[in-house]
Amino acid sequence: MGSLQKRLEEYAGSDYYPYHMPGHKRRLFGKTLATVAAWDITEIEGFDNLHEARGILHRLQLRAAEVYGAEESFFLVNGSTSGILSAVSAALPKRGKLLMVRGCHKSAYHAAYLRSLEISYLLPGMHPEFGCTLAATAAQVERALAMEPDIGAVLIVSPTYEGLTAETAEIAEIVHRRGIPLIVDEAHGAHLGFHAGWQLNASRLGADLAVQSLHKTLPSMTQTAILHVNGELINRGKLKRFLEIYQSSSPSYIFMAGMEEAIEMTAAGAEKLFGDFEKNWHEMLERLNKCKVLHFLQEKNMDKGKLVIMDCSGRLSGRQLYDTLLNQYHLQLEMAAGRYALAMFTIGDTVEGYERLTKALLSIDGELDSGRVALAAAEPSGRQEQWICLIQQFPLYEAWDKETEKVPLAKAAGRVAGCFIVLYPPDIPVVVPGEIITEEICHYLQTCVRDGLTVQGMEKQNCQLYVEIIK
Ligand SMILES: Cc1ncc(COP(=O)(O)O)c(C=O)c1O
Repeated sequence: MGSLQKRLEEYAGSDYYPYHMPGHKRRLFGKTLATVAAWDITEIEGFDNLHEARGILHRLQLRAAEVYGAEESFFLVNGSTSGILSAVSAALPKRGKLLMVRGCHKSAYHAAYLRSLEISYLLPGMHPEFGCTLAATAAQVERALAMEPDIGAVLIVSPTYEGLTAETAEIAEIVHRRGIPLIVDEAHGAHLGFHAGWQLNASRLGADLAVQSLHKTLPSMTQTAILHVNGELINRGKLKRFLEIYQSSSPSYIFMAGMEEAIEMTAAGAEKLFGDFEKNWHEMLERLNKCKVLHFLQEKNMDKGKLVIMDCSGRLSGRQLYDTLLNQYHLQLEMAAGRYALAMFTIGDTVEGYERLTKALLSIDGELDSGRVALAAAEPSGRQEQWICLIQQFPLYEAWDKETEKVPLAKAAGRVAGCFIVLYPPDIPVVVPGEIITEEICHYLQTCVRDGLTVQGMEKQNCQLYVEIIK
């Protein structure tokens, strides 16, 4: 297989174009990305300590808070994952009750497990055509809080993986009326608030805690992220305690230097960077909107940069679209789902990047329109409607510690899940330990595997899929 270094070197020299994270798009933005080894130090004299920042790192974090309009900000070197673990842990006491969107990243579930939290779900529904999860609305949160007055914190995702934004300001108001905190998983929104044409970020919309992956949408290295805190509802000492628990005691100075540079460069160059981004994005959409068969997710509450592509004739599944773009055009997308494929654009993209994908999609659309593409053998796995009949038999914190056994998926209906079954990407659980695996879930998982999606938490043995269930 050769060394990782060699493979990375070869890949860097290839013509595969990246429509995926990280936001720097493998281009040399600034000095940090070009300078690695010489800057790789630890907490030596004069370089402060992230876990007790009083010097340069404190100053950097103050500056980040100023840019993002937050009261206080914390650099994260273990991704948004560590920010979500810390935010959820600090927002609730042990065994507290969390109201969260079902489509949360797995780190939110991990926090609930570690802190023995009761979970109550918000189910914002599915997009009728594309089958992706929608973002939470204020009415949904209001209804859920009215039904369950013991909820201690609310967690929403905005923007979603597909770029849909929640009614964050209205939700914050409703949540605060109850005197409890709002956490926003804004992992896909580190670019928000830099430019007038974009939506405001969650800190400016009233979130008590907001977590952003800098590496997803800014020119910053993988694993770099930031946590913002606002208001009086979060105990800051407790938050710092959890940040120390969930993060490395040797935070990378390269990461931190890169974070500073990414934020400063984006803030200083916002006019031009976001102006070009917006122009290229709209020009591409204008051309793509001429497609006859391919549809692109376009909603009022949509962030720019996520191109969600679907063949509305149903002949190409999300995976087939993804594979066609990869194998025939050398265009590497961010992900494939049942009915759609997702390409990501950031301020790091080149005109060539827009051009290559536009041409490829126009050409695929032409092929589809001419009828030269055969009908798929089966309808692509679509909406995750199985969540509608979700039954929690045991709380997650109990279920994940129980003894399990493996059974064929075909025989799992009616049994209780003993481990997570997760679609990767977007790393959102389809099944959570303690939930009943219904017939609908079995069918959905089978179609996901048939469609070539990556499902974690299942094993293939002798051509049969196995799942772990509670004994
Ligand atoms: C919505 C959401 N939240 C959190 C995360 C975790 O982010 P990170 O990879 O920075 O740890 C992801 C990762 O894909 C995500 O999509």
